[in-house]
Amino acid sequence: MVRLVIFLLMSYSTIILFRSRYGQSRLWEFQAVAEYLYPNHSFQWGWNETAQLYYGGDYGPSIVQKLPDSLTAEQWSDVAVRCIGCKSVFQVVGEGVTLADCIADVGRWSDHDILKLVPDTWSMQIEHLGKMQRLHPKERRIQIEQFRDVLGILTTRKVDLESPDTELVLLKDCRSLEDIDPSTDRQATHYHWLLKRIKATKYPSAKILFERSDVKKRAFISTTTMPADRALLMANLAGVQQGNVVLDPFCGSGGLLIASALLGASTVGADIDDALLSFTDRVLPFPHSPHRPKRGVERVSYGDSFLELGLDEPILLPGLDIQSASFVSRVLQANDGQKYDAIVTDPPYGIRESTSQMSNLELVGVLAKVAQSVLKPSGRLVFLQVIKGDSDNVEHRRLALYEELQPILQTYRLDLKHLVLEKFNTQNLRATVVVEKQG
Ligand SMILES: C[S@@+](CC[C@H](N)C(=O)[O-])C[C@H]1O[C@@H](n2cnc3c(N)ncnc32)[C@H](O)[C@@H]1O
Repeated sequence: MVRLVIFLLMSYSTIILFRSRYGQSRLWEFQAVAEYLYPNHSFQWGWNETAQLYYGGDYGPSIVQKLPDSLTAEQWSDVAVRCIGCKSVFQVVGEGVTLADCIADVGRWSDHDILKLVPDTWSMQIEHLGKMQRLHPKERRIQIEQFRDVLGILTTRKVDLESPDTELVLLKDCRSLEDIDPSTDRQATHYHWLLKRIKATKYPSAKILFERSDVKKRAFISTTTMPADRALLMANLAGVQQGNVVLDPFCGSGGLLIASALLGASTVGADIDDALLSFTDRVLPFPHSPHRPKRGVERVSYGDSFLELGLDEPILLPGLDIQSASFVSRVLQANDGQKYDAIVTDPPYGIRESTSQMSNLELVGVLAKVAQSVLKPSGRLVFLQVIKGDSDNVEHRRLALYEELQPILQTYRLDLKHLVLEKFNTQNLRATVVVEKQG
């Protein structure tokens, strides 16, 4: 009895695994979502930005991070599920520098205690992250078998691998590989955790929203349409939530308007391209796709992508140039004279897309002026900038960009919250910029 009470009082630490291809933006996304879901908490963020597991692949590097106990594990999980860049939140059940230490730590619990961690069905998943994937299969098998011994009790339980209620994951953290002493064995284990995956309780997952709105399934797209996961990430960075009104002054085919609408916002889109925004009831010039078999023969309008997702159509301002004198008044008029909660936008990349041939910094000046005029206090502006150059010296370039943007934004009483530079393609980097209007 005493043992059980101690067990129940024992609080586990919580960790999060970020795993998607948007680099550091996913840290700020998580932060932004936590801050708008729990506005009365004051979070102390201490991201270990170098804590990355470089194993690449489609998802890019992963980041493992311990979370502060300012929220419960379930609340953290509710935050994570709304983020496009989070894999999952876990409670640490056993931890150790070596696998043996981890197993010994888990072994502090009786079989009964361990069973209490997996209330209904269970699945045991062994994930090999980082360098562990490169282990010799024999060595890997030994590690797996050791782990199975610890959880032998679970083999007596009903197994439902199809839809497990609880998953246990063995995670190997390779974070210290980056600064490891070169004289030591780089294959060495640095941390093992046995983790219990925490289920979110409240919110629709960003993954579901992304799958529903995947570009391949959309009725209407253009050459500029942004991938749905990137669009959701940007809307999250802006803190877009139910009941907000969001503006995209360079809305193109509406990718960011769709993402904002999926998070519960009403949307207003402007674009200089009159024909694009007025696109109505024409045969689509796209080939068939397995996701949308009728594609290519159906007649679609701009708003069909919204209607097919069950979203309200945006208010559109076709042919409106962001530099025109009437821009601010037209945009405010479209929202019944009210200010906006957020601006989320993907400005034109260079001369080809822009009629005005603005430089990057001129464009920031124009956007900042618009943000000052149309955003509510504390409203956010999130935008991208493509910058020439390869990924050498990214941190240096990021600081240089920061120095350039800061005075422009200050002129319009906007605070630069986050600036992330990521590789875009072989010749270009792309900055994600998060700005907040002073309260
Ligand atoms: C990168 S695209 C936006 C893509 C959009 N996010 C999508 O999902 O399709 C940039 C857009 O800015 C528009 N644009 C260029 N110059 C503009 C200006 N001066 N005022 C307003 N829109 C402009 C272009 O017509 C283009 O649609």
